[in-house]
Amino acid sequence: MKKKVAVLMGGFSVEREVSLSSAQGVIKALDELGHEAIPIDVSRNVADLIHNLETHKPDVVLNILHGRWGEDGCIQGLLEMMGIAYSHSGILGSALSMNKVIARKMCAMNGLRIPEGQVAKLVDICEGHIMEPPFVIKPIGEGSSLGVHIILDGKTPLPDPEEWPFEDEVLVERYIPGREIQVAVINEKAIGAIEICPKGAFYDYEAKYTEGKARHLMPAPIHPDIYAQVLTWAEIAHKVLECRGVTRSDFRYDDTQGEPGTLYYLETNPQPGLTPLSLVPEIAAHKGMSYAQLIQWMVEDASCRR
Ligand SMILES: Nc1ncnc2c1ncn2[C@@H]1O[C@H](COP(=O)(O)OP(=O)(O)O)[C@@H](O)[C@H]1O
Ligand SMILES: [Mg+2]
Repeated sequence: MKKKVAVLMGGFSVEREVSLSSAQGVIKALDELGHEAIPIDVSRNVADLIHNLETHKPDVVLNILHGRWGEDGCIQGLLEMMGIAYSHSGILGSALSMNKVIARKMCAMNGLRIPEGQVAKLVDICEGHIMEPPFVIKPIGEGSSLGVHIILDGKTPLPDPEEWPFEDEVLVERYIPGREIQVAVINEKAIGAIEICPKGAFYDYEAKYTEGKARHLMPAPIHPDIYAQVLTWAEIAHKVLECRGVTRSDFRYDDTQGEPGTLYYLETNPQPGLTPLSLVPEIAAHKGMSYAQLIQWMVEDASCRR
């Protein structure tokens, strides 16, 4: 059945460009599926957004925003108040997942292994009081590897606290050597694990969104026991973080001492990327689900108050 689908895109987080790229594919798919797509570029002007939604009266909203305000429960709260069905996780699931510190705690409480880590002020980390290298510094509530710094040894330059655009308090994690594994969960079921081999130092913003900067291996060629474990862990993360719809969880797999190695949970993305190089569409395609079928599933799954 043809539906009127508002596509929330852009937004005003540091992941604006990523969202616009995701939305381009989504709008094309909605056209192919015969739905009426209503693109809405979300700005800080909330009155504008409300006006747009009230004027167009969409059957559902596809929330294609990434990062703060769009992926962390804020927009979800507005849509709940307006009574409009929307895609992906609700207020709680979005808020829990987008806070890496809370997500780590909840997953660890439910049996997932997480890298040793703590919250600290960037200035204290720079003074060398917190952790010996190798470690990773990351903002608590951002995405797309923005602000992620890998400090391999004492010679690696630290970010300048004066120039730091994110919150003063950050997550400091033990650096886990080895491999990069990500899992897509659709409808509470893990559908596959992919391995990413970045050409550069790590899976940074450039490797995520530039063609040819990372190799994707689907399915991840890892020990079968670890493959099974990573799928189970992604389902647990999705469940304990109260997510719904589609999520993607990110892991590190340390096989430096041989296989089977040791798996570590990093984070869960409640609104994973849908760009041409994004991983959920690639994992879904491997399972025989096309990009358009994935979008159709999201349209049908959209809900309010769940
Ligand atoms: N503890 C860690 N050890 C090794 N690499 C890490 C670690 N934490 C993050 N990374 C690298 O940084 C990337 C981004 O980190 P992640 O926690 O997924 O945050 P986000 O994707 O939300 O920016 C990961 O995909 C991985 O390549
Ligand atoms: Mg990630």
